[in-house]
Amino acid sequence: MNTSANSSSNRTPLIAGNWKMNMDHVQGSSLLQHLAEALSEAKHDYDRVEVAVFPPFTSLSAVQTLIQDDGLGLVSGGQDLSPFDSGAYTGDVSGRFLARLGCKYVLVGHSERRTIHGETDEILNAKVKAAYRQALTPVLCVGEGLDIRRAGTHVQHTLAQLRASVDGLTTDQAAGLVVAYEPVWAIGTGEVAGPEDAQEMCGAIRAELAGLFGQDVAPKTRLLYGGSVKASNAPSMLHETDVDGVLVGGASLDADEFASIAGFERQLAG
Ligand code: PGA
Repeated sequence: MNTSANSSSNRTPLIAGNWKMNMDHVQGSSLLQHLAEALSEAKHDYDRVEVAVFPPFTSLSAVQTLIQDDGLGLVSGGQDLSPFDSGAYTGDVSGRFLARLGCKYVLVGHSERRTIHGETDEILNAKVKAAYRQALTPVLCVGEGLDIRRAGTHVQHTLAQLRASVDGLTTDQAAGLVVAYEPVWAIGTGEVAGPEDAQEMCGAIRAELAGLFGQDVAPKTRLLYGGSVKASNAPSMLHETDVDGVLVGGASLDADEFASIAGFERQLAG
């Protein structure tokens, strides 16, 4: 069980909200204010359970200004970054710009980027390295589609994505990495994988990281589950040994719902 930065793991749980292409900067500011209020009412301890939001690029500045000016305990991240630091890449956003805004995290390889934008593991490996060049923590998303799940090869498939994306990282980078397991068939569909599915894959990911980077590195890497997470199913996911957090899409657009997910420890205790 991993309900907090506990003695067996010392991994601080991460509750991450991926707003996707929702919330312009005015709506985003309002959502963030509501979220901060809900968390404050719940006396949320950010050192114990980290809370991160991933707004669209155009809302990041407004969100980050609120976080800084109001001294909020939340942190923010970008939904994507360029594999390059600057130059003639029209429409792309450099990790340097995200870091300058005060972002801590950046999503890399969300399934919507892989499928809609054709991002390959090779590109994602370059993006992970670009994030580290700017001292951003990548949240690397991996996971299988329904056909692969039905064929029963989901573990091999997901581990192959992982291996290709972390190629060439240092042990310190691997230890600091966040990996989000998101079965594509459970994203935005209401189909949620069971806690045992999340544990099966997160356990396999941690074992793979141990093989690649060493037994002392893998216990430090934080692993998230994502896909139709809500306040009602988050605690059972977070109860699993190797699940250190959740990546939440739809439910992160509702401040009260997302705040209750962040308060999962109360449900586990109660
Ligand atoms: P969902 O999205 O929670 O709406 O399923 C998760 C994600 O895509 O990160």
